[in-house]
Amino acid sequence: MKFSHEWIEKNAALLIGLIILVVSVGGLVEIVPLFFQHSTTEPVAGLKPYSPLRLAGRDIYIREGCYNCHSQMIRPFRAETERYGHYSVAGEYVYDHPFQWGSKRTGPDLARVGTRYSDEWHRTHLNNPRDVVPESNMPAYPWLSQNKLNPADIVPKMHAMQRIGVPYTEQEIKDAPTELADKTEQDALIAYLQGLGTQIKTRN
Ligand code: HEC
Repeated sequence: MKFSHEWIEKNAALLIGLIILVVSVGGLVEIVPLFFQHSTTEPVAGLKPYSPLRLAGRDIYIREGCYNCHSQMIRPFRAETERYGHYSVAGEYVYDHPFQWGSKRTGPDLARVGTRYSDEWHRTHLNNPRDVVPESNMPAYPWLSQNKLNPADIVPKMHAMQRIGVPYTEQEIKDAPTELADKTEQDALIAYLQGLGTQIKTRN
């Protein structure tokens, strides 16, 4: 049969097959090179894997769904860099599994919130945001200061991270539960927040 575009359009199975082929090739061409590009796979200078406490805090951030209202990705536009600081670069996220870029900003971007406020501010804010920002519609998370972390949980978590390329040493994993002893979920979450985006110094 003679090849014609009409024939493809009238043959649903063939059309679907060809669409999948075109989309896969297009996707692969865009995505695969990123795995080999240094700017996306090399950590920025000074980037360290999350400390055990911060790693535990990151899991609380995910569990509580903070990403539903907060992005962690500053775009390279003046309106964003004036407000939040240097735009985000790929090398800041190489130890983030999974990354927390988010796609919704009900609240401000948190990519560089580290060191912007004191720990005490974060405690008050997490217990009841209205105590520090009267017009805030962020939910309160009072239970975080009541719940203790389970130090033993961190060992399998760090091993999982190690398996996907985060360079934790066996010694660090062995010592991790001690760092978490007697810490609350709120301590961990605040430690996580206080380190966000601090590798690139941006604010004067
Ligand atoms: C329903 C949406 C919503 C959720 C869910 C939410 N927030 Fe917020 N957040 C906001 C809004 C709105 C603000 C701005 C007002 C304020 O500071 O409270 C904010 C502000 C913040 C700020 C201050 C940022 C800045 O630059 O001033 C931090 C830090 C923060 N949130 C952390 C968190 C964490 C951690 C969680 C999860 C435990 C969380 N938020 C969950 C809406 C949300």
